[in-house]
This record gives sequence, structure tokens and C-alpha cells, in this order.
Amino acid sequence: MCEIPDKLLVTCAFPYANGPIHLGHMLEHIQADIWVRYQRMRNKIVYFICADDAHGTPIMINARKLNCNPEEIIITINNEHQNDFSNFFISYDNYYSTHSEENKFFLELIYNKLKKKGFIKKRIISQFFDLEKNIFLPDRFIKGTCPKCKSKDQYGDNCEVCGITYNPTELINLRSVISNSIPIIRNSEHFFFDLPFFSNILLLWINSGVIQKQVVNKIKEWFDSGLKEWDITRDAPYFGFKIPDTIDKFFYVWFDASIGYMSTFKNLCDKKNINFDEFWNKNSKLGIYHFIGKDIVYFHSLFLPSILDGSDYRKPTKLFVHGYLTINGKKMSKSRGTFITASFYLKYFDPDCLRYYFATKLSSNIEDIDLNFNEFIYRINSDIVNKVVNLASRTANFISKYFNGFLSSNLIDPVLYQDFINKEKIIGEYYSSRNYSKVIREIINLTDISNNYIDKKSPWKILKEKGEVQELQDVCTMGINFFRVLSTYLKPVLPGLNKRIELFLNIELLWDEINFPLLNHKINKFKPLFNRINIFQINKIFNTSKNI
Ligand code: 2FM
Ligand code: ZN
Repeated sequence: MCEIPDKLLVTCAFPYANGPIHLGHMLEHIQADIWVRYQRMRNKIVYFICADDAHGTPIMINARKLNCNPEEIIITINNEHQNDFSNFFISYDNYYSTHSEENKFFLELIYNKLKKKGFIKKRIISQFFDLEKNIFLPDRFIKGTCPKCKSKDQYGDNCEVCGITYNPTELINLRSVISNSIPIIRNSEHFFFDLPFFSNILLLWINSGVIQKQVVNKIKEWFDSGLKEWDITRDAPYFGFKIPDTIDKFFYVWFDASIGYMSTFKNLCDKKNINFDEFWNKNSKLGIYHFIGKDIVYFHSLFLPSILDGSDYRKPTKLFVHGYLTINGKKMSKSRGTFITASFYLKYFDPDCLRYYFATKLSSNIEDIDLNFNEFIYRINSDIVNKVVNLASRTANFISKYFNGFLSSNLIDPVLYQDFINKEKIIGEYYSSRNYSKVIREIINLTDISNNYIDKKSPWKILKEKGEVQELQDVCTMGINFFRVLSTYLKPVLPGLNKRIELFLNIELLWDEINFPLLNHKINKFKPLFNRINIFQINKIFNTSKNI
């Protein structure tokens, strides 16, 4: 694992402002949030940002349907998205929108720089036009058969089956998604970004360990077939930013969304007096980390770094790519009832349950992750309720009842305690490398050791059988100390539970302080910390989600 700089900017992919946040989004935002919370616990300065990806034809068409302005829609959706993320404890420092003054500013600045350096080329292109709706059809509004692998019903920009990107003209049997008519071809002048110019720079960057190996292999295939110039223009009508010195041309949503990482950060910098240039200047050694799904690697590994390089900014430190989410083994789909929105999930379950479950599944690879609801119930009840929380409940009551809440001033098993804190290094490395499933395995293993310890010492027998008051306090103090170390290790994953634990233990859980056991310290009365979950909650989700 490479050294992680002291100051980090971390981002998730910007959700489109034309639909709700669902559990597929949550996989990424939770993965990133756990990483961010861990880095913060290790005293890194982390700025964690995201925004709505507000532009594009779908939003414009939605607005037309609803008979309102796109601006109104994106404000409502932005509020909903922010609520969802904060309800899942995603700790953003800024959640903004690409429809912002800052984004327009950077977009024009970068575009003008690229233009001045000759990286923007003009060409007349033939484009599909929907005569019924009187609109040029963006790639996503054209469907057809993939020219390479021949998969049907692929969108006009890239094939979801074989992963290639292409021009919509290359699709076979295409039609307009809006009217289902066969579109005609119309000419229009477009601006292209000279991606091929950056081939060598990109290869150097990609080979320098910024992306997982699995992903690099895929990217190499794109180089093998040759990089293509990128069309950054969309004709009016379009909801987006106008290209300077044109009347009816707009920037393609992906161009301004990529720049949105900068502008969202700039907005935060202005509010909090943070040094923007320190992060983005060409030679910056501070960290910029992007969490993204495997479907948008093309944009982030090719377009984004070359736009940045071409306009004299630094490139990302790492792209952390993850797989998709499936639900009970199936793709998320409305008709199957497996399209579960974040807010719908929250009607039935605690956000920590999903955070924990995802953590048990996540690693640094790009395999898809399945949310299997039987396993979900088992994991929560068996790990969190029966193992972690149980450790506190079976020891804390003695401390309250016989010792007025005070822990012993004596740690009876310092060697075993040392074993627990020695795990700090490996657990920390697993967090940093996003191997959360291994983090959880280590923690649950320690939880088993602690519970076995308590079983063996049987505090419930100590008073009755031996009358040893001091031994009872010492054993329970050991149990609470194990619990405190484990809870500290779990803190990035379970922020909701953590709040209740900190209240109960009467301390803030800090990574750097586990070296010092909690002794002669007053804890609060134990109250149930986590609710068991059951199959009825799951059934409700599936029976109701079909009607969402
Ligand atoms: O794929 C998506 O959902 C895009 N809205 C992600 C954009 S990421 C960034 F470039 F803004
Ligand atoms: Zn294909």
C-alpha cells in the first residue's frame, strides 16, 4: 500500500439529478464513507465531497413532462439526495450541484485553455434527429445493437455488455427512445477534445499504480483499439452550459460533470477558507481519490486525467473502482421488486445494518456484490447483536450494580489486551486498502476471543460461588475494555451505533488511545444498543417495493 498523504480530497461519482438514490448508489457512498471515516480517525485531513450531476437531456425531458423548469427539479432532487446521504451517515463536507457558478467558471476556464492549446477540434458531424420531437438525440436516447458484440438494446454511447464506447452512428438497427421512431440524420458542427494526443501521458499515468490491476487490463483494451476524439458538444435544446461563442451549442454533461469535482471543492474552499491550489496545482502531492463504479472507468481513466493534464492541473492520486450491487442474486429492477431506494430501505432498517453488511462483503476488487437478505439478517443478528453488543451487555450490568459504574483500576490480563491492540496495524492496513471484509473478519475473531474469555471467567458465578468482589470487577473491566477496543475498530463502519456506545462508555473512541486501557473510569448504565432484525421486515420490503 502506498503512503497516503496527510491531506486528502475524496469524491464519489455524482448521482444524476433525475432520480432517487438507491441501494446501488449506497454501496459506493458507504464504501467511500468508511474509508474517509477511517482516515479521519488516523488524523488525516479529509475533504469528502459529492454533488448532483444536474445537466443533460433526461432532466430536460423530465421537466417538459412535468411542465416545469429543470432548475426546479434539480433543487428538489438535491434536497432529497442530501437527506438520503445524511440519513446513512455519509459524512460529506460538501454536497453541491454541477449547475453552479463555480462549475461554469471552471468549465469555461478549462475549455478556453484546451482550445488555446489546440486540443479542441471542430468538425461537421452527422447526428440523429428525432423529427417527431424536434430534437437531436443524445446517445442515451438512441438504442440499437452493439457493433462489436452484437448485443441488442444498447445505448448510443457505450455497450454495457462488452464495454466498448462508440459513436451512435455505429449502432445497428437504431431507434429513438423518446418517440420510438427511426431517427433521420442531420448535420451539425461539433467540438471534439483531442483524446488521442494524450495517449502516452495516460499510459504512463495508468501504469503508475493509480488503478486496480483488473481494471488496468480492461483499459489496455481501449488503447489497443486506439483512443478516439471525444465529442464534447450537444445541440440545443439542452439543459447545460452554453459553449462560449456559439448560439445553440452546449457542453456535453460528462464534460462539465468531470470538472464538477473541482468546482464542488472550490465551493467548499470558499466557505471554509481552504487552499484550493494546494490540491489542484500540477505538482501537488496531496491526495485526490475518486470512488467510482466500473461502468464509468472510461470517463475517469481517460477523459478526466487528460482534460486535467491538458489544462495544467494535476491528475487523480487513485481511482478506487468497485463492482455493481445485485439484490438476492438479481440485477436491481423495478418489476422484480429489487429496485430499493435509500429512503424506502430506511423505513424498515437501521442504516448501520446496510453499512455493516456491505463492509462484510467489500474488498478492493471489482466483483459485483450481492445483497442477500437472509445473509443480511444473519450477519446483523449474529455479529452485531449476539457478539459485539452482547459483550457489553453481559459485563456492564455487574459494573453498574456492584461498583456504581466504576471500572477496576487494575487490568488483569494485560497480555491478552496487548494482543487486541496489536491487531491495530493489520486492521488499519485493511481499512486503507478497502479490504473491509478482512477488517470485519479480524474484528469478529477478536469478538469471539473476548466472549470465550468471559464465558470461561463466568462473572455471573464469581460472586455467588467465590464471593470475590474484586475479581468480578476485574473480569468485567476486561470485558468492557475488549468491547471498547472492538468498538473503536468498528467505528468507521457503524457511526450510529458508535454514538450510543460512546454515550454508554462515557468516552470518545479514538484510534490513538486504545493503548491506554479504560481503568478507574465511570461508565453509564447499559441500555440496549442495537435491535435484532427479522424476516418480517424483509418481507415488507419485497412486498411493498413492487409498488414503489
Ligand atoms: O454515472 C453517473 O451516475 C454519472 N452521473 C457520474 C458522474 S461522475 C462525475 F464525473 F461527475
Ligand atoms: Zn457490445
